[in-house]
Amino acid sequence: MNKKKTHPCILGIESSCDETSAAVLSGFDVRSHIVYSQMIHKKYGGVVPELASRAHEHAISQVVESAFDQCGCRPAEIDAVAVTCGPGLMGALLVGLNYAKGFALAQNIPLIAVNHIEAHLYAPMLEFPELEPPFLCLLVSGGHTMLVDVRGLRDFEILGSTRDDAAGESFDKTARLLKIGYPGGPVIDTLSDSGNRNAVRFPRSLLEAGSLDFSFSGMKTAVLHYVNQKKHITDRDKADIAAGFQEAVVDVLDEKLRRAVKRSGHKKVVLAGGVAANRRLREVLGKTAERKNLRLYYPPLEYCTDNAAMIAATGVMYYRKGMFSSMEVPAVPNLKLTSGSEG
Ligand code: KG4
Ligand code: ZN
Repeated sequence: MNKKKTHPCILGIESSCDETSAAVLSGFDVRSHIVYSQMIHKKYGGVVPELASRAHEHAISQVVESAFDQCGCRPAEIDAVAVTCGPGLMGALLVGLNYAKGFALAQNIPLIAVNHIEAHLYAPMLEFPELEPPFLCLLVSGGHTMLVDVRGLRDFEILGSTRDDAAGESFDKTARLLKIGYPGGPVIDTLSDSGNRNAVRFPRSLLEAGSLDFSFSGMKTAVLHYVNQKKHITDRDKADIAAGFQEAVVDVLDEKLRRAVKRSGHKKVVLAGGVAANRRLREVLGKTAERKNLRLYYPPLEYCTDNAAMIAATGVMYYRKGMFSSMEVPAVPNLKLTSGSEG
């Protein structure tokens, strides 16, 4: 195996939640990318762990094979396999991790266990390969909301994080409350187009002066109270509530990001995670970036939500540094983003 290649061919595998995904990259060049989104959870309004592991087991071989078919690449051409080892659902993680271990053993290539949160931070590199740390990242996904000072590979400082619900989680819970579908983020994003964002004003929790932490549970409760107060909720009301709720979340994220920029002095800002797909958030942060003279990077839509391309991209960075994992590396459902942590 050649550890010095600068454009290694990496197979990425992601199975931490409800997406089974595989990608083949040459350096940061995406040669193929397959995402199988498990629809079975829709009728439950959230991810059911046991169903997720079973669906991953069912799909994984086919998804990886499709990734190879799409780029016409052979398994023997792969230099290393990168796979999510946490955080996520235990059963779901194990499916991807065990598959990756088997693949690495069969091909006699290194395994790179990737922290899913770290991979989200680097997703914009798939569009902007020249983007290098240090930068400030606002990571907003279904499970995490944090402001991270990214100094380098496995070298971070978390400047703020959520004290209760994650931003994406609050979109999902609000959508469930309004009975408008799952996952809530994309549904609220679209429905907000037909609503008036100033019709209902929901509270913005900014916590203590200067705090970079987040709290979204109050907003969700405010929506609940508003809905309970009204005797009848029309489709028009739902659109206004969606738009008002989205505006409140975006306002808080914008304010916290501005505080973090001021405190850290960073001029490069990365927006990542599933909620980074939100059009209103991109619009508002884009304006802030313009006013404050910041360079704002966000991944293409397909790399905002969970995907194997970002796992493979992180694998490329580890590969270049010769940082590989042992075959004994475990799945860690509550893996944190900490400097120097085992990926
Ligand atoms: O990053 P991700 O795919 O999974 C986690 O690692 O958590 O994020 C999924 C989250 C879900 O909560 C989903 O509702 C939210 O991202 N999301 C959005 C949008 N697209 C996905 N939230 C707001 N607006 C969107 N357009
Ligand atoms: Zn994710």
